[in-house]
Amino acid sequence: MKKKQGLVKSIKSLNKILRGKPQVPVSLADNQLLQVIYNRRSVRSFKAEPIPEDVFNAILEAGRLAPCGVNLQSWTFAIFNNDLWLQTFGRPIPFRGDRAVIIIADSSRYRQVLEEFPYCPLTEYTIAVMNASMAAMNMNIAAEALGVSSVMLSETGRSGILDAKYLKEKLNLPDATVPLTTIVFGYARGLHPQMPPKLGMQDITIHGRYQATDRATMEDWLAQMIAGYNASHLGTNFQEQLETYQNKIGYAEDDLKEMVFYRKPGSSADGQPKRKE
Ligand SMILES: Cc1cc2nc3c(=O)[nH]c(=O)nc-3n(C[C@H](O)[C@H](O)[C@H](O)COP(=O)(O)O)c2cc1C
Repeated sequence: MKKKQGLVKSIKSLNKILRGKPQVPVSLADNQLLQVIYNRRSVRSFKAEPIPEDVFNAILEAGRLAPCGVNLQSWTFAIFNNDLWLQTFGRPIPFRGDRAVIIIADSSRYRQVLEEFPYCPLTEYTIAVMNASMAAMNMNIAAEALGVSSVMLSETGRSGILDAKYLKEKLNLPDATVPLTTIVFGYARGLHPQMPPKLGMQDITIHGRYQATDRATMEDWLAQMIAGYNASHLGTNFQEQLETYQNKIGYAEDDLKEMVFYRKPGSSADGQPKRKE
């Protein structure tokens, strides 16, 4: 009986996912940029087709020109083809993508000429994350507009923030840098992925004082997440994936504290901020 109820719930959730569509105002339905943004999906399967050099360079250029606080450009893009990824990490680019870019929050470069900046690692890190994320998204959208698909990774294949310490060692990154995410690029193989369950506008917006989204809405969303994941991932399930993620988040916390609160330049170890245990 319980199994049957679970199955009915899954089918209902899958139905809701299939009905999910971008809310495009009719008057703007022909707008090409909106179409690119709304139809972008994370792609996790790529053809063995190389991205032409000019196309890839145009994607990188979109990253270079992204907006950022005080124009500090606190980012570094580590660029890979398959050979370099293999040489660096001993395995192919995740999902057999053609190219990969590791987006690094980087407050070290401008410090070479702005030495008077106070030691404020958390603020600098936060700003660098915001800036680098802008660059990452600009690259994603530019890629999409050029017919190149992508996926950003924080965890899969030791490629992002949850393995930041490992990436930092492999790339020999200095203090005041944190690898955030790998963007994998390539030409999509197979059908265009279905939009995953997105919360409604009313669930993620407030007008004035904060109002929490009601629990029933969140339970419904979680049921869709579980059903969608299980239907599209054979051989694993949402619960297993969640456990892996929770485990990695746990140990990434200490690594990240070390990286964000790097030793104050010119100070002894005692100069480091005290950690809450
Ligand atoms: C910062 C960031 C990290 C992500 N990490 C992963 C990852 O490790 N593995 C993965 O398969 N997808 C990852 N994704 C893709 C998300 O799962 C995806 O964006 C989300 O499910 C929404 O789907 P959509 O991009 O098709 O709208 C990541 C996305 C972002 C923005």
